[in-house]
Amino acid sequence: MKIIKAKDYNDMSRKAANIISAQVIMKPDCVLGLATGSTPIGTYKQLIEWYEKGDLDFGDVTTVNLDEYRGLPRENDQSYFYFMNHNLFDYVNVNPERTHLPNGMNPDADAECKRYEEVIRSTGGVDLQLLGLGHNGHIGFNEPGEAFETETHCVDLTERTIEANKRFFASIDDVPKQAYTMGIKTIMMAKKILVVVSGEDKAETVKNAFFGPVTPQVPASILQMHPDVTIVADEAALSKC
Ligand code: GLP
Repeated sequence: MKIIKAKDYNDMSRKAANIISAQVIMKPDCVLGLATGSTPIGTYKQLIEWYEKGDLDFGDVTTVNLDEYRGLPRENDQSYFYFMNHNLFDYVNVNPERTHLPNGMNPDADAECKRYEEVIRSTGGVDLQLLGLGHNGHIGFNEPGEAFETETHCVDLTERTIEANKRFFASIDDVPKQAYTMGIKTIMMAKKILVVVSGEDKAETVKNAFFGPVTPQVPASILQMHPDVTIVADEAALSKC
């Protein structure tokens, strides 16, 4: 595990974007695993800036996203489909046929998870998977206590996650209670993993995930076992390590 200390959120975003850019430059037809949440927004902004300057080309890149809410239409501004378009895809030259997310509107959970797992496999494998970190140590939507060996599956979100996400919805009743997510096994199959973390409120989580025991109670702790993980965290997020 390599830990890169950033000064603050902007520095974290720039350093993470550098790693993604290096991947795209070295392998223009690479497969990027992408994440949502507030943490990677600055990273995507930086990538857009470099794309606009002509330094990056996403024309041959394939993307697979980690997760999507179940039952939320793609047009809903809280869907991860909407998030990806508005924070990255609309501003760079990705080929829409090569950008993939789970389809939250497929009511058949088993069929959707199977389909998505096959989509990931058909890309030939994720070269670089970007991850944020939930406050309870979740990655994607793999909540504490889930088995490490799961592939893409449907999860019931924990109360803490629903609570954390309610700020984005009109009321807590509107927050979806389930999601389709790549499993820990799917995530661990990526060749390289890049984790972005910012802020003091994640300091305890960082300590538990990367300096504590490997346990399903802290899903991100499994990343300690991956051969190629880089964590880009700001000083505040590293303040308890
Ligand atoms: C959601 C996403 C995760 C993300 C997490 C943290 O639960 N499914 O992929 O890492 O939020 O989000 P934030 O970066 O806003 O703290």
